[in-house]
Amino acid sequence: MKINNTDMTVSWKSWASLHISSLLCASGVVLGQFQLEPLNATVLQGSDIQFNATVPGKWQVMTWTVQKLLVLTVSTTSGIIPSSEQFSARYCSREDTSCVEFTIYNVTRRESGPVTCSIQGNFGQKTSQLHVQESGVVSIMGGNVTAVQDQHVEFQCVTTAWLPIPTVTWTRNGEAVDSSLFNTTSMTDGDSFNSTSVLQFQAVRKTTVTCLATIPTLEKPQSSSVFLVVVPEPPDWTVLIAVVVSFGGAALLVLLILAIIFCYTRRKEKKSNYQDEMRMVRTQSQLSGVDATWQRQGQVNAASEGQTSVTPSELTDSGFFQANGPNIFEVPDVVNSNQAGNFCNNANNSMGESGFKKHRHVTIV
Ligand SMILES: *[C@@H]1O[C@H](CO)[C@@H](O)[C@H](O)[C@H]1NC(C)=O
Ligand SMILES: *[C@@H]1O[C@H](CO)[C@@H](O)[C@H](O)[C@H]1NC(C)=O
Ligand SMILES: *[C@@H]1O[C@H](CO)[C@@H](O)[C@H](O)[C@H]1NC(C)=O
Ligand SMILES: *[C@@H]1O[C@H](CO)[C@@H](O)[C@H](O)[C@H]1NC(C)=O
Repeated sequence: MKINNTDMTVSWKSWASLHISSLLCASGVVLGQFQLEPLNATVLQGSDIQFNATVPGKWQVMTWTVQKLLVLTVSTTSGIIPSSEQFSARYCSREDTSCVEFTIYNVTRRESGPVTCSIQGNFGQKTSQLHVQESGVVSIMGGNVTAVQDQHVEFQCVTTAWLPIPTVTWTRNGEAVDSSLFNTTSMTDGDSFNSTSVLQFQAVRKTTVTCLATIPTLEKPQSSSVFLVVVPEPPDWTVLIAVVVSFGGAALLVLLILAIIFCYTRRKEKKSNYQDEMRMVRTQSQLSGVDATWQRQGQVNAASEGQTSVTPSELTDSGFFQANGPNIFEVPDVVNSNQAGNFCNNANNSMGESGFKKHRHVTIV
C-alpha cells in the first residue's frame, strides 16, 4: 500500500491547527475572566475604598456600578467619566490599561451593597460586596456619681446608632472590668443598633469609670467617662443626738448643783455679815445715842430675817431701805442689784425654801 506523503502532511497540519485554535479559544475564555479585588470589603462610614480591576488583553469600555447605579465609565480612548466627585478611577500605572483602580470617597450607608465592574465585549462582569459599618454615640447616663464607702453603685452606658452591634466593655481607672459585673442588651430598628450596658459594683475609692464601644473597622474604641467619688460613711445621727443630749443633760445638772452650792455659801456669808453689821450698828447707836425708834426698827429688821416679806413702809420699790433718822443714808440693796443675787433668790423661791430677803444695810453716821 502506497501512502501519499503530501496528503499526510496536509492532514497533520489541519489537525495541529484545529488543536491550536481550540487551545487559543480556551485561553481566550480564561483571559476574559478579569480580576476584581477585593471581592468583599468592610469599611467604616466616612472612609474611602478602592477596588482594582485587572484585565488581560485589549478592552475599550469599562463601567462601574454601585447599588445598581452606573457611577463611572472608563474608555481607553475617551478617558474616565465619573457621575459625581464621590467616585474616581485611574490606571494603576501610566499607559498600561490592563489595571484600573476605582475609588469611592466618603463611603456612606447608601453605597453599602454590590459593587460591579463590567467590561464591554467578551470579558463579562465581576461583583464585589461592600459592607459599611457605622460608629455611633456612646454615653454614660447620669454623669458623675458620689457614693459612700461600700455602697452599691450602678452605671448605665447607652450606645446609639451603631452598625453592627458594638462590643461594649468597661474600665475602672483604666483597668478592664470583669464581664460578670455588667450586662449589655441591644435593640435594632433594622437600620442600626442601640444598646444599654449596666455595670454594678461596690464603691471603694475614687474611680474613673469608662464605657467603651467598638466595631471591627474602628481603630480606637469610642468612650465615655465619669467619676465615682467615694465619701466616708456619714455619722449615725441618732447616736450623735443621744450623745449630745446626755452630755448636755449631765453638764446642766452639774451647773445646777454648782449654782445651788454657790448660792448656799453666799447666803450663809451674807447672813453672818449682816449679823456682824447689826452688832456694829447697835454698838455705834449706843455710843452716839441714836433715838429709840431706829433701834426698834433695827430690831424689827433683824427679826424679819427668815420671813418672805418685809412691810412696805420699810422697803421701797427700788429696794432701798428708808429710815427717818437724820444721820442715816439710803443705801442700795447690793444683793438685789446683782444678777447672781437674783438668780439665787429665784432658785431659792423655785425650790420652795423659806426665802430670805437679803438686804445689806450700811449705816454711816
Ligand atoms: C461625607 O458624607 C457625608 C454625608 O453625605 C457628608 O455629610 C460629609 O460632609 C462628607 N464628608 C466629606 C469629607 O466629604
Ligand atoms: C465630673 O467631674 C469632673 C472632675 O471632677 C468634671 O471635670 C466633670 O465636668 C464632671 N462631669 C459632670 C457631668 O458633672
Ligand atoms: C445580668 O443579668 C443576669 C440575668 O438577667 C443577672 O443574673 C445578673 O445579676 C446581671 N448582672 C448585672 C451585673 O446586672
Ligand atoms: C436608638 O436611639 C435613638 C436615640 O435615642 C432613637 O431615636 C432610636 O429610635 C433608637 N433605636 C432603637 C432601635 O431603639
